[in-house]
This record gives sequence, C-alpha cells and structure tokens, in this order.
Amino acid sequence: MNDPRDVDGADEFAISRRDLLIVGATSTVLAVPVDAAAATPAAAGAPAPETVHTMTVNLQVNGRPRRLQLDTRTTLLDALREHLRLTGTKKGCDHGQCGACTVLVDGRRINACLTLAVMHEGSAVTTIEGLGTPDKLHPLQAAFVKHDGYQCGYCTPGQICSAVGALAEIRQGVPSHVSPSLVEQPLLSAEELRERMSGNICRCGAYSNIVEAITEVAGSAA
Ligand code: FES
Ligand code: FES
Repeated sequence: MNDPRDVDGADEFAISRRDLLIVGATSTVLAVPVDAAAATPAAAGAPAPETVHTMTVNLQVNGRPRRLQLDTRTTLLDALREHLRLTGTKKGCDHGQCGACTVLVDGRRINACLTLAVMHEGSAVTTIEGLGTPDKLHPLQAAFVKHDGYQCGYCTPGQICSAVGALAEIRQGVPSHVSPSLVEQPLLSAEELRERMSGNICRCGAYSNIVEAITEVAGSAA
C-alpha cells in the first residue's frame, strides 16, 4: 500500500479531488431541471385542496343550550374556548397530560383536549364558569381561595372541576388505585385525594393547599 505522504500518493489525492469537483459541478447542473419541475404549481401529485367536514352539535353548556357547527376534528376544549369563548377552561399540554382542561360531562370529569366535541351530542357540560360566580362561589372555589390553593391560577379551573368530579366518585363508592378495598366506601384521606387528583398538575406546586381545600369541603359534605 502506498504511503499517503509520498509523492505518488499526493498526486493520486490531487486527481481524485479534481474528479470530485467535476462530479459535483455536473450534479449541480443536472439538478436544475429537477428543482424547476418541483417548483411548477401544476406538478403531478400535488395534494388536493383540503375538504373540511362539519357537523351540527347540540350541547347543554352550564345549563344553557348551545348549537354549534363544527369541523368534526374540533376538540371539546377548542369548542368551549374558541367557539363559545368560555376561556376559564385552560389549555396546558393539549395532550391529556396536565389536567388544565378538565370539565364535567354529564357529571363526570374529563380531559376536554382528548375528546371531540361531536362525540358529546346532547351532553351536559359544566365548566368552571358554570360552577359558581364571583358573587356566589362554589364551595370548592371558596375553599381554594381560603386555603391559597393556587399561585398563578392557570391549573385552578381544572383542579376545581376535577375535585368536584373526584368527590362525586368518592360519594358513589368508586375505588381508586390506593383504596384499601374495592367494595367498601373509599376513605376521605389525603392519600386518597392526592391519588384521585394526580391527573391535575400544578406547576406552582400548590398541592398541599389544594388537598387542604378539598378536604375541608369533603368533610363538610360528609
Ligand atoms: S390541556 Fe388537556 S390535559 Fe393538558
Ligand atoms: S397555581 Fe400555577 S400551575 Fe397551579
């Protein structure tokens, strides 16, 4: 094998570099017509214009009948926020991971970002705006204020809607992952509440105050 540092080796390298430059220049010239063809608007195989499918959806939102004409891909969260301007329900992750979008559908809590509005024809939807008003707070809203169950407040509407759903589940005897028994009435323990609220993330870390607020309301309702 030639030593790459010897004269012959150096000449070979010089020739192959020239060859490479020639090949590169040729490729550039050959590439021009291809690029030009791709830039032609009427190129074969171009995607057809998008067809939007819409449907009429009837919802009972916070006790009020609402009729919407929606793109069938619209999530319940976007229907509430973008079409009904109920912006109390928050969009955090839009992927079912934070709980900021939690609302109640027919009394059960649900991540509104993970469900399509058209799947809820005729359903009763309750958002944070439907739980209470500034003049007449829902007991959980009042307890969150009393116990400082928030800092920035972004997760709070979802936390409160989720807490309403969680307390209803406990009343109905629905067990959780940490319930000691699958058949006995679940306890109103901090562990039980933390588990049931684990789908609601609070970036500000107000968890202990949130549990205190829910515990107070759960105790007074028991
Ligand atoms: S926005 Fe729905 S779970 Fe995060
Ligand atoms: S209060 Fe800020 S994210 Fe929960």
